[in-house]
Amino acid sequence: MKKQLEQQEKLPLCDVLAQYEKEHRLRLSMPGHKGGKTDTPLTQAWGHSIWQWDVTELAMTDQLYHAQGCLLEAQQLLADFLGGKQAFFLVNGASAGLMAGILSVVRPGERILIPRNAHGSIWRGVSLAGAEAVVMPVSVDDTWQIPLGVDVSQLEAVIKDYGVTAMVAIYPTYHGLYGDMDALVALCKQYGVRLLVDMAHGSHLPFLPGAIPNPIALGADIVIQGWHKTMGSMTQTAVAVVQDETLPFGKNLLYFQSTSPSYPLMASLDAVRGLWAEKGDVLGRSLAAWAEELTLAIRQLDGWRILEVVDFQLPVVGKDCTRILLANELGLSGFAVSEQLEKAGIDVEMAEATLVTMILAIGDLCQKDEIKERLVAALIQINEMQKMQKCEPPYQGGLTSFLPQQEVVALMPQPWWSLSSVRVPCRTAIGRIAAEMVSLYPPGIPLILAGEVITKAAIDLLEKLILVGGNIQGYDDGSLAVLAASDEEGVR
Ligand SMILES: Cc1ncc(COP(=O)(O)O)c(C=O)c1O
Repeated sequence: MKKQLEQQEKLPLCDVLAQYEKEHRLRLSMPGHKGGKTDTPLTQAWGHSIWQWDVTELAMTDQLYHAQGCLLEAQQLLADFLGGKQAFFLVNGASAGLMAGILSVVRPGERILIPRNAHGSIWRGVSLAGAEAVVMPVSVDDTWQIPLGVDVSQLEAVIKDYGVTAMVAIYPTYHGLYGDMDALVALCKQYGVRLLVDMAHGSHLPFLPGAIPNPIALGADIVIQGWHKTMGSMTQTAVAVVQDETLPFGKNLLYFQSTSPSYPLMASLDAVRGLWAEKGDVLGRSLAAWAEELTLAIRQLDGWRILEVVDFQLPVVGKDCTRILLANELGLSGFAVSEQLEKAGIDVEMAEATLVTMILAIGDLCQKDEIKERLVAALIQINEMQKMQKCEPPYQGGLTSFLPQQEVVALMPQPWWSLSSVRVPCRTAIGRIAAEMVSLYPPGIPLILAGEVITKAAIDLLEKLILVGGNIQGYDDGSLAVLAASDEEGVR
């Protein structure tokens, strides 16, 4: 990685777009706004350059899927920066990269091991790939009721018993918890299992102090990072690193992304790569110091608890310090905390029954004082209100956002998108086969997977989550989608 870093001050894509703007070229091509020459309020609000840079694939601006110019150079710089053989700009989120990644690591009929807490895009990818998902149970923290991850020591037997050829790892989880990546990569290498790492929430981890193991450096086959989440690029941007160049990842991306990729989005990736290449160590240290400062300020308040890695048991070996997991000690649910913070003009990343998750990132660094002041003031006020029982009745706790499973389950491949479904009232759905995923959103981790028989336990949990304010995807007006009788026969 170090040897190429002198090149990293270059921003090939941003330079070309700045030049394009400067040349005042006649735009007899897409997009139709022709550099922002339309009469909408956005023309003013968004400023001049974003419109000017919103161009299409031209001789000067290169082509994403057949890159030979500035996009080739920008992606090569990205690969060098990340220490990968190949790197790709993604303009449809980490989701697109994960789905393309699945199609690249597993063939129809093969078995891929997936942790039960995997994001929806992974389950959709497996379904499209026609692969069999070997679903690995994930332990759930008894007190905080959040998924902890897969125990690597249990994987060897499953790989052997099920003849698994590929696996997905989540590193870290939405809550910033991570397991033993060194052991996992070593195990996959030992058994020739292709490893796809969902690093959607962990792009910044290699820059934080503490030498957190980096799956790219360890040699995972494909790693997907969601740069928009923590690196500072625009929403929907992500990157992929491919270490095994024989995998058809680039080709597979076209199944999940537009043929008209957004140049402002890609330019934001180019610019952010340049920023982290120049100042990554400083940014990483500043972020860790900022997380510590805010954590200390909250710790001094009455009634609040911040969870650290010591609060969790194995298989968790570390926690991203920039994820703040905050729980109220007077029994206010995470949903209620989030609602009260919202009233104070503060939006958190995710609310669950037991806690809220807040994300700290580089964009905070120039407004730390304001964030600390407003958040602390709001937390003091919420706790005072709770003491007087003005927010809501104390929450009894013990409600998970995720249904713990005990057994490894193999789900036969099915074309879920083409099967007929009917919506039935929740309770009537017990015993039927789910036709679509049902999940609390965020985090988008399925409570029920398409293809699973819907259990009473799942419906009990779903109803409790709705009662405490959870937003459930796949649940509509009290109903769930189950396979129509005509298709159910063939699936059972
Ligand atoms: C663990 C995990 N992986 C993947 C994704 C998908 O990321 P994106 O929203 O960039 O498509 C998410 C989204 O929140 C996620 O939580």
